[in-house]
Amino acid sequence: MLSILVLHGPNLNLLGSREPGIYGSKTLVAIDEQLKQEGQRLGVSVLTLQSNHEGALVDAIHSALGQHQGILINAGAYTHTSVALRDAIAAVQIPTVEVHLSNIYSRETFRHHSLIAPVVIGQISGFGANSYQLGLKALVYYLKGVQV
Ligand code: DQA
Repeated sequence: MLSILVLHGPNLNLLGSREPGIYGSKTLVAIDEQLKQEGQRLGVSVLTLQSNHEGALVDAIHSALGQHQGILINAGAYTHTSVALRDAIAAVQIPTVEVHLSNIYSRETFRHHSLIAPVVIGQISGFGANSYQLGLKALVYYLKGVQV
């Protein structure tokens, strides 16, 4: 069975109470639960991890080698700053989809640039918690070669 690693970056542990007007009111626990359910429907296993630490996320990407066939990542603010995360994704060459709850292109200009975008298959941004569901589906369809 295909295994997908879901990575959540900094401050996403506060989802539900963090700026709900921007990020919605769903908690990270609820999002992870929904991803696992969607994984079951898609016939893949889903492992989730949140960290506020850049190095821990880099370690998780390295550890995915040989364990997971795809990565779904919301790198949070590290999206806009982390060469290390970008290099880790490029190094392991595991197909990765980038997601964001908010539309990063309609917000402050410092959010318009994603350092990881050039090394992922694609990006889904702006659909709230649905971004994760859509991202998981897109990743699994990519890995299984499904055409819709
Ligand atoms: C975010 C967008 C980032 O700019 C921000 O720093 C986040 C969350 C999103 O999901 O919309 O922490 O990745």
